[in-house]
Amino acid sequence: MLSFEEKQKEINKLKLKLLNLTNSPLYSYRVSKGYKPVLGEGNLEAKVMFVGEAPGESEAKEGRPFCGKAGKVLDELLESIGFKREEVYITNVVKDRPPDNRDPFEDEIELYSPFLDKEIEIISPQILVALGRFSAKYLMQKLNLEKFLDSISKIRGKVFLGKGFGGKEFYFLPTFHPALALYSLSQRKFLEEDFKILKKVLEGSFDRNKIISYFKEEKKGQLNII
Ligand code: URA
Repeated sequence: MLSFEEKQKEINKLKLKLLNLTNSPLYSYRVSKGYKPVLGEGNLEAKVMFVGEAPGESEAKEGRPFCGKAGKVLDELLESIGFKREEVYITNVVKDRPPDNRDPFEDEIELYSPFLDKEIEIISPQILVALGRFSAKYLMQKLNLEKFLDSISKIRGKVFLGKGFGGKEFYFLPTFHPALALYSLSQRKFLEEDFKILKKVLEGSFDRNKIISYFKEEKKGQLNII
């Protein structure tokens, strides 16, 4: 377990590495637009880490994750369960803005995901929340939960227990990307429901029998919920 100072140091090292990621296919686009790379931000001791897809234009301009319209929705959702943004850690799978907000390519995910892996190892949260299908897919593969992979509308709001990123167990909750709430009230309702579930997990009041685990059923009785 790293101390706060050690975490800060490791995150700074990661930022520097990202700044100099000249071999990225998105590097020249970043430089030509005057954009910044976007590593995560928030509480280095956070129990919960939110993982989005990739920075949008506002994020790339400011060099901060979820600081645009989708970020406002995320702030509101956090507020709805009594959290402030500063209490959690927020990041993305891909750390540079893809042109025209297109979906990230496989090779981009491959190149940037080690940065996310390292953030997870450094922060060492108890719960990982995937915001949208890209981060859900990536995290489920890494957490030994691949067999439960399905469309985001089928897996959202379910609580999983996975194991990965240095052999640690993590609770995992996938939900929709907050940007969807900008266009659809029903998606917003689903997001609100899922955040209520997150709150229950954090409080330890989520029904442990509903947790979908990476290991076999019979070990379930030994689970320690947070
Ligand atoms: N969408 C994302 O997936 N990430 C951000 O940081 C902003 C918008």
